Amino acid sequence: MKILEKYIAQYAASRRGSFVSQTTTGEVNGKTVYIHIPEAVIPVFPVLSFASLFSFFDTKPENVLDHNYARIPVFAARYAIAHALKQMNISPGDEILLPAYHCTVMVAPILKMAGKAVFYKIAPNLDADLLDIREKITPNTKAIIAVNYCGFIQNMAEVHALCKEKNIKLIEDCAHSFFGQKNGVTVGGFGDYILVSSRKFFPVEEGGYLLAPHFGQTLPEQKSQTLLKSTKSFLALIERSLKFGKLWLLAPLIELLNILIKFAKRLRKKNTAAQNHADSFSSGQDICQEGENYYDHSLMDKKPVFVDSLLPTLLNSTKITKSRRKNYLWLSEQFRGIKHCRLIIEDLPEGIVPFMLPVYIENLKEYFPAFETAAIPMQRFAQFLWPDMKADICPVTADYSKNVILFPCHQELSQQDMLWLASTVRNILEQA
Ligand SMILES: Cc1ncc(COP(=O)(O)O)c(C=O)c1O
Repeated sequence: MKILEKYIAQYAASRRGSFVSQTTTGEVNGKTVYIHIPEAVIPVFPVLSFASLFSFFDTKPENVLDHNYARIPVFAARYAIAHALKQMNISPGDEILLPAYHCTVMVAPILKMAGKAVFYKIAPNLDADLLDIREKITPNTKAIIAVNYCGFIQNMAEVHALCKEKNIKLIEDCAHSFFGQKNGVTVGGFGDYILVSSRKFFPVEEGGYLLAPHFGQTLPEQKSQTLLKSTKSFLALIERSLKFGKLWLLAPLIELLNILIKFAKRLRKKNTAAQNHADSFSSGQDICQEGENYYDHSLMDKKPVFVDSLLPTLLNSTKITKSRRKNYLWLSEQFRGIKHCRLIIEDLPEGIVPFMLPVYIENLKEYFPAFETAAIPMQRFAQFLWPDMKADICPVTADYSKNVILFPCHQELSQQDMLWLASTVRNILEQA
């Protein structure tokens, strides 16, 4: 058994690559230099495994789709923002309030729809700062985007009450929070429009929805993707799993398909440099990395590929929610004991299903290159802020943008993965 495990680990490692870090850049003789970093050993987002399949009979834990609202299927939640604004018929100059603690793909659709992005403060526990929102509301304010960060349902009830008082639409951003409930309200229960992102909780590369109890206009007909694209996407999912030692029984099939594709391409004499990348159906991690900051408005009217819509309904949600809570609690306990680390959110209330574990690391800049070199799986939410946003708009954001890391707690982490993650972070922070 040990020999098999070793072989699988070696095979998985051979499929992982490295990429150029966009974050740890330095200057040598006035020129920017980028470092090459290995692909994370543990997946940052879940990958497909036999263990996570299937649950036809389980009662699904509370989730954002329970409201049975009408939905527009989208390629990613960022395009759901554009749809929400379109449904609201916003005009040039209309203002959309959104948190200073944001990712740039939340701003791009606002500008593409001719809106004006106005940023509001967040509190240290990631709640929306209601006083600041009040001050920033003007007669031109049409909507507020409020985020349930990291799977935690923030002070959405209060933001909702404020929106009602001011007659403004609430766009509840549930990109980080697919499952769960707070005070008896299932996630997504407050928004006039609700953003859903599938790839944060399920092993898919694309997918999400715009949900709404009442849409302002007839729903658009979203375009399906081709059968070829769907097949490639499915194979890419399997390839991504192979990189992390999952679905290894399918490795011979994928290897054979790759050989056949290479051969077919040679025959067609279309061996360009890009096509030589044939040992991969998609660039996996690269897509994930680039995808974080990528906005292409022309994708707004596209549906995700079929398999990416189907998988979230087939996977074992009970296992997903239980594992995420268990992993989050275990990792929190570890990180509490590591020097220079502090949890941003101390408790995990009943009913909450976390997306990732946000950890504040004092003077992160000093340690970050070592984190990247050690191939620690992580995300730096809000590391890159919208360039037009003034740095002093929100002191909490200015600080968190530089010093917070989100660590995975997803359903595919093993105890061994988590031990490795915690001990590697400890070694870097305590032995520096
Ligand atoms: C808070 C928040 N909202 C919206 C989005 C957009 O989600 P998607 O990646 O599905 O476009 C992201 C992306 O990470 C996010 O972090």
